[in-house]
Amino acid sequence: MSTAEQDRKDAPLDAALRQEIAALAQHAEYKRAAGTDALKLVQKRFGFVSDQHLAEVAALLEMTPAELDSVATFYNLIFRRPVGRHVILLCDSVACWVMGEAAARNHLCARLGVNLGETTQDGRFTLLPIVCLGHCDHAPAMMVDEDQHGDLDAARLDAILEGYR
Ligand code: FES
Repeated sequence: MSTAEQDRKDAPLDAALRQEIAALAQHAEYKRAAGTDALKLVQKRFGFVSDQHLAEVAALLEMTPAELDSVATFYNLIFRRPVGRHVILLCDSVACWVMGEAAARNHLCARLGVNLGETTQDGRFTLLPIVCLGHCDHAPAMMVDEDQHGDLDAARLDAILEGYR
């Protein structure tokens, strides 16, 4: 996301984005079925989905903001609060738990100076828990943005973090 876009994160949805959402709605069987994809478009542009943008998308899809918010809340990759430049999703499901998720979490928390659910002071990382990523054969596992990482130990975590500025 560019600085200009970050500065404008409370700006109304522009015409191009509204058109993209309208096109999604047109191709869906029901307008509201485009809710998740529409919210992903907004998040891609602004980094998260603000209340204002949620209400604008809801109006385009002929839903109430509460109805669309329930979609956003159910789908845990839609962020309803500002997040850091990179989002770490650390799996806390069974295979990862057995294979050392706690040690990985403790290392990440200490290294980043945050608890789960928090963003580092420099805005570089947000650390969130997530259910199984389907990477169980390399547990413990996490995603950073769109990238999957596994076999996490302290050294590997440090090396991975260095790759995200
Ligand atoms: S349990 Fe963690 S990736 Fe499946």
